[in-house]
Amino acid sequence: MFDFAGRKVVVIGGSYGMGYATARMALEAGAEVAIAARTPEKLAAAAEALQAGGGRPVQWRALSIEDRAAVASFLAECAPFDHLVLPGSTVRPVLYADLDEAEAAAAFASKFWGPFWAAFDGRAHMRRGGSVVFFTGVAARRPVKGYVMGACINGALNAATRSLALEFAPLGLRVNTIAPGLTDTPLQDILHGHDKYERYAAYSARLPVGRIGTAEECALGAMFLMANGFVTGQVVGIDGGHECMP
Ligand SMILES: NC(=O)c1ccc[n+]([C@@H]2O[C@H](COP(=O)([O-])OP(=O)(O)OC[C@H]3O[C@@H](n4cnc5c(N)ncnc54)[C@H](OP(=O)(O)O)[C@@H]3O)[C@@H](O)[C@H]2O)c1
Repeated sequence: MFDFAGRKVVVIGGSYGMGYATARMALEAGAEVAIAARTPEKLAAAAEALQAGGGRPVQWRALSIEDRAAVASFLAECAPFDHLVLPGSTVRPVLYADLDEAEAAAAFASKFWGPFWAAFDGRAHMRRGGSVVFFTGVAARRPVKGYVMGACINGALNAATRSLALEFAPLGLRVNTIAPGLTDTPLQDILHGHDKYERYAAYSARLPVGRIGTAEECALGAMFLMANGFVTGQVVGIDGGHECMP
């Protein structure tokens, strides 16, 4: 369905979850792939699995999206590339009443400023015709208790998507965002542990599609945004109809 031959895709947050699924699909579509994330062992295992499946070497580096210098250096090492996919970040769910300034600033440093500066530093290394894909989430449009930081950050990044689409246009680059709904990835184990199953059941009962999402469904969205040269400035919800829940 997708032909990415001759293209290079860089995924920060590519060792598991939606980022890994996107890297795998891009590789299967013929792209050269580079991945980064924080945990070296998981990253090495992911690169090895991708390489085994795709039959091509996969470039990788352990880093945090919060470390702007490390991200900029990795992007320079990957140059030239076509697409920059940015799912990797960390925001802990916290009730507003329990927040403090350090926690709020850390959330923005990871999920807003991380991808924001990665796009800024990456654009000089990207070939015309390429694109940036941010990842936000449904919390921007439909509140979930405990996710006030997610709501603020997602809303800010959704707004940035439209502004950056204009500013990246002279470079021949597009900017789009995937806004996932509740999706079965390792993130849910990290955030909710075994309680995730209760959460899955509650959401499945209310979502129009009657189930929660998969990493591959979000990756398919990212593939569409990278492949379709007529789409820019869009925030695409891959969420099973989350906003329509009664
Ligand atoms: N899953 C959901 O239900 C859901 C719902 C709404 C929105 N989203 C958003 O969708 C995106 C992808 O989510 P996901 O569920 O696939 O899992 P995820 O936990 O966000 O991350 C998966 C990948 O990102 C890496 N990562 C995490 N924090 C990082 C950091 N600070 N710097 C660099 N890499 C980092 C992880 O590896 P390491 O841990 O080794 O770094 C892993 O490779 C995220 O932005 C998430 O907030 C997810």
